[in-house]
Amino acid sequence: MDKYVVRGGNPLFGEVEIGGAKNAAVAIIPAALMANGVCRIENMPRISDVDLLLSILKQMGAKVRMVGKTIFEIDCTGVKHSKAPFDKMRRIRASYYLIGSMLGRFGNAKTAMPGGCNFGVRPIDQHIRGISAMGAGVEVKGGFVYAEANHGRLDGARIYMDKVSVGATMNIMIAATTANGRTVIENAAKEPHIVDVANFLNSMGADVRGAGTDTVKINGVADLHGGAHCIIPDQIEAGTYMAAVAAAGGEVLIKNVIPKHLDCIAAKLREMGVEIKEYEDSILVKRTRPLRRANIKTLPYPGFPTDMQPQFCAVLCMASGTSVITEGVWDNRYRYVNELKKMGAQIQADGKTAVIEGIESLTGAPVAACDLRAGAAMVIAGLCARGTTEVEDVSYIERGYEDFVGKLKCIGADIAVITEPDEPKSTDKEAIAG
Ligand code: EPU
Repeated sequence: MDKYVVRGGNPLFGEVEIGGAKNAAVAIIPAALMANGVCRIENMPRISDVDLLLSILKQMGAKVRMVGKTIFEIDCTGVKHSKAPFDKMRRIRASYYLIGSMLGRFGNAKTAMPGGCNFGVRPIDQHIRGISAMGAGVEVKGGFVYAEANHGRLDGARIYMDKVSVGATMNIMIAATTANGRTVIENAAKEPHIVDVANFLNSMGADVRGAGTDTVKINGVADLHGGAHCIIPDQIEAGTYMAAVAAAGGEVLIKNVIPKHLDCIAAKLREMGVEIKEYEDSILVKRTRPLRRANIKTLPYPGFPTDMQPQFCAVLCMASGTSVITEGVWDNRYRYVNELKKMGAQIQADGKTAVIEGIESLTGAPVAACDLRAGAAMVIAGLCARGTTEVEDVSYIERGYEDFVGKLKCIGADIAVITEPDEPKSTDKEAIAG
């Protein structure tokens, strides 16, 4: 059981390199199951969620080879069955993409329901609606999902999503690549990683058009061959370092980013008095003045990302005046507020809204990472707090942040990992991030 010990007060200076996008990688790995042949994937984030998905594919018979620090070759040609290891599937939310890829490759799928939730209910009804519309019989029973295409192959369909869902858009897109005929997804999610996954599928011979708009059209092809793809930089990892500089002060060049993907995060930071300079593939963040208050509403892309909400809440704790955050994507994403309160934060969270009264300074305290982004928020709070903050349950953070401690240390943060002897595992700790 590791924990992070953060001593606050150091401003951050230097350069930090951003890795590949987690939420693209966790769809691209399951999508590789669709290919007969080798898929070469570059800029793979080195995070534990990726390791877990690769180990699921390996257990199913795939060959996985690391050919560079962030370059992997995945060959699923030898996978002959549509059954994934249930225990591992339950540990990761993104395992739901295996439903789409197994249906697309084998015409059937037997999977465990994707892992529990750590910020309220996380249904998959839109995924099921989509694949049902494509002619699959789907049964959810006893924690398992059984799906079977009526005549061994899915049929193209016109699907209007009741709710904008990143996961359902990508799952239907993956499954539809080898369906009979054309699938049209209306009211699709538009996140950059949807475009990235579509590009990966097209590199394997798929015909996906319109990804990144609210209408995605997929013309089914007979089968997919191996492909090659370089994953886009992680918008949320970059945004997290931007928030860290805003909180701790200093000046950091964040490299390997697509500045366009960071527009709304940069706009909010400018509003708060942070200086931002954009370059071709990097962004400079400088904070020398006290922070101003701001209101934030999270929305699907291109709105302000929900996955930046906890980190910005931590930053706004030190801004002058009262800030209001409205969570527009998830029903309940404020569990971490109680942890920030242990550090002296003045926050009232009720339903979708959190009201933050800015204070002079947070005070270090023992806190827990309730989930991936909440964990990042605790570290950010620790960086600017007086005294020492100990963050527990950091395995959540390591699911989605590549070498978080190492990268923060390189820009001057006083942070260390302490390993303590394991306690007996509770099922709650198996809950999910991402
Ligand atoms: N929803 C439904 N039915 C569904 C699917 C979603 O009602 O079948 C609702 C959800 O309850 C939520 C909203 O639709 O209110 C959006 O959910 P979405 O499906 O977009 O979320 P997701 O695909 O499960 C991904 C990311 C999350 C990120 C959301 C929103 C992965 C593995 N996870 O989740 O990332 O918050 O999109 O952008 O891609 C994270 O990285 O920390 C994280 C939680």
